[in-house]
Amino acid sequence: MKILVTGGAGFIGANFVHTTVEDMPDADIVVLDKLTYAGNPASLAGLERVTLIEGDIADPDTVDPLVKDADLVVHFAAESHNDNSLNDPSPFITTNIIGTFVLLEAVRKYGVRFHHISTDEVYGDLELDDPAKFTPTTPYHPSSPYSASKAGSDHLVRAWVRSFGVAATLSNCSNNYGPYQHIEKFIPRTVTNLIDGVKPRLYGAGLNVRDWIHVRDHNTAVWDIINKGEIGNTYLIGADGELNNLQVVQLILEEFGYDANDFVHVNDRPGHDLRYAIDNTSLLELGWEPEFKDFKAGLADTVAWYRDNEEWWRPQKEAVEAKYAKTGQ
Ligand code: NAD
Ligand code: DAU
Repeated sequence: MKILVTGGAGFIGANFVHTTVEDMPDADIVVLDKLTYAGNPASLAGLERVTLIEGDIADPDTVDPLVKDADLVVHFAAESHNDNSLNDPSPFITTNIIGTFVLLEAVRKYGVRFHHISTDEVYGDLELDDPAKFTPTTPYHPSSPYSASKAGSDHLVRAWVRSFGVAATLSNCSNNYGPYQHIEKFIPRTVTNLIDGVKPRLYGAGLNVRDWIHVRDHNTAVWDIINKGEIGNTYLIGADGELNNLQVVQLILEEFGYDANDFVHVNDRPGHDLRYAIDNTSLLELGWEPEFKDFKAGLADTVAWYRDNEEWWRPQKEAVEAKYAKTGQ
């Protein structure tokens, strides 16, 4: 089986490539990745049966021959960070919307199976006490340029299924954590700050809730959807991991053996979504179960990974923090 993985040098895509190489000895993987600031070839180092092609998903001449040669396309590539989308939305539109369009045109032309990776953020946010969670029929209501661009890409995929018969499935997942996550994101930023003796930064009051899932559980769900999902359907991926940001910071401080109040409040994110929560019923119906049910244990593994792999993240640290300093975060 030949699998084209877009964005496979990023956080979730690289973890997907690692587990697929381990679990599927008959798979050959081509990674198409632009190697933006978020893509790191070191995340794929030493893997056999993996070819990394540096290129842009928004370029039809690059995409066409790679899709022609594939049995399956798993589409992770995106601009993925909300804070960046507030500073400069432009690459979010090009990569997330035009890039998805270019891939869809190629899978349509060659009749290749497509799986689209998306986010729970397309549904907007929930009140803290709302008993309802996001389901596949929740109306779209994105808040940021990032989530709006992902919403646009989801609509394109559904239109290409209905109008052109493209064989695609979609998944919208909640917040991932685990190894190889870029240190601009909340958990790795907090962990690497603490390794450097810098206090964690909490946006606003820290009451915003995210529904945390280990990246390996996200990726086993993606494989279940590819293998058992119904064409045209959307599956929500989540593992009942709701915690507010204050709780997460305090669990990380505890893991380091520091005082629970040893963090600082910084400027809030404009338009900051309050709460995400996933109803994963349709995924459970496929027989999927998460492996990482204990967030504290998964977090401890993740902290250990960042301690053990400083050479992977260290080159980015200064620039990431300089960028945050400009917005008072
Ligand atoms: P990431 O930012 O870590 O990685 C994105 C990868 O895409 C990078 O390797 C980057 O170089 C590549 N890329 C960017 N623009 C490209 C282009 N034009 N052409 C080719 N490659 C390009 O992102 P991530 O956190 O791994 O997210 C992967 C996917 O999962 C995204 O679609 C994101 O929306 C979705 N998602 C992420 C989370 C999360 O918690 N991180 C949760 C749900 C869904
Ligand atoms: O819900 C899925 C989404 O999760 C994905 O679609 C996105 O690609 C991914 O980046 C993530 O989005 P968030 O904006 O929720 O993740 P982030 O790690 O940026 O922030 C998590 C929460 O922590 C959010 O409420 C903002 C807050 N935060 C973030 C940083 C970097 C802090 O309080 N302090 C920080 O230093």
